[in-house]
Amino acid sequence: MDSSGSNRPPPELVDQLPPDGHASHSAKPAPADPVPLHDYPVLSTERLTLRTPRNADIDAISILANDPAIAFMLPHMPHPYGRADAADFVRKACQGGNGNGIYAITDTATGRFLGCCALRPGSTGSALEIGYWVGRPYWGRGYATEAVHALIDLGFRATSVDHVDASCRVTNPASRRVLQKSGFQFHGSEMLAVMALNATVAGDHFRLDRKTWLSLTTWRTQQP
Ligand SMILES: CC(C)(COP(=O)(O)OP(=O)(O)OC[C@H]1O[C@@H](n2cnc3c(N)ncnc32)[C@H](O)[C@@H]1OP(=O)(O)O)[C@@H](O)C(=O)NCCC(=O)NCCS
Repeated sequence: MDSSGSNRPPPELVDQLPPDGHASHSAKPAPADPVPLHDYPVLSTERLTLRTPRNADIDAISILANDPAIAFMLPHMPHPYGRADAADFVRKACQGGNGNGIYAITDTATGRFLGCCALRPGSTGSALEIGYWVGRPYWGRGYATEAVHALIDLGFRATSVDHVDASCRVTNPASRRVLQKSGFQFHGSEMLAVMALNATVAGDHFRLDRKTWLSLTTWRTQQP
C-alpha cells in the first residue's frame, strides 16, 4: 500500500460488503430482482442520520479510523490510516452517487460524524451484507445497533432478498452483540481476510432471514 492510499480499498466494513429504524410490517417486498437497490436513500432513526459520506467528514474519518481496534476487525481498512486514505474512501463512496450503499453514521442533533456502515450485495449475488464501524469515543451508546436496524429495514423493505448476512471475527464480542440485538443467528464459521493484519483470521457468519425480521418488526409494533 502506498502512503497516498490511492490503490487501497475504502475503509469499509464487513467482508466484501460486500444502514429509519422502524420498519412497518405492512411493507411489501419489491418484486423478483434479488438486489435491486440502485438508489440508497438517506436514512433517519431516532438519533441518527445515515447519509453518503462527504468531504466534510474526511478529518473525522481519518482520526477515528486510525485505530487498530477498528482496523483489525475489518476486512478492508488499512492501518495506520491517514487523511489521504479518508479522502480516497470518501471519493469512492461518492462515485456511485447515492447508489453504492456506503453510509456515514451521523448524530442528527449535532451533525457529528460517528462512524460508517454499509449495505451491499453479498458475494453470492443473492443476498445483502452489512458492515459497520463506530469511532471509539462513541462506543457503547447503541449507535451501531441503531444503524444496523436501519440498514436491515432498508434491505428487506426495498428489495426482495430473503436474508441479510454479516460476518465478524470470533474475537469481536461487541459486533456479535450488535448482530444478536438485531436478530441475526449464527450461520457457520469462516475465515476472514483482514488487510491491516495482512492475515486471515477465524470468523463467524451470521444471517437474518426475512421471516424472522418480519416477526421481530411485528412484535416490536405490538409492544404496549
Ligand atoms: C462493534 C462496534 C461497531 C459496536 O459499536 P457500538 O456503537 O459500541 O455498539 P452498540 O452500543 O450498539 O452495542 C454494543 C454491544 O456490545 C456490548 N459489548 C461491548 N464490548 C463487549 C465485550 N467486550 N464483550 C461483550 N459485549 C460487549 C455492549 O455492552 C453492547 O451490548 P448491550 O447494549 O447489550 O450492553 C464498535 O465496537 C466498532 O466499531 N468496533 C470496531 C469495528 C468492528 O468491529 N466492526 C464490526 C465488524 S464485524
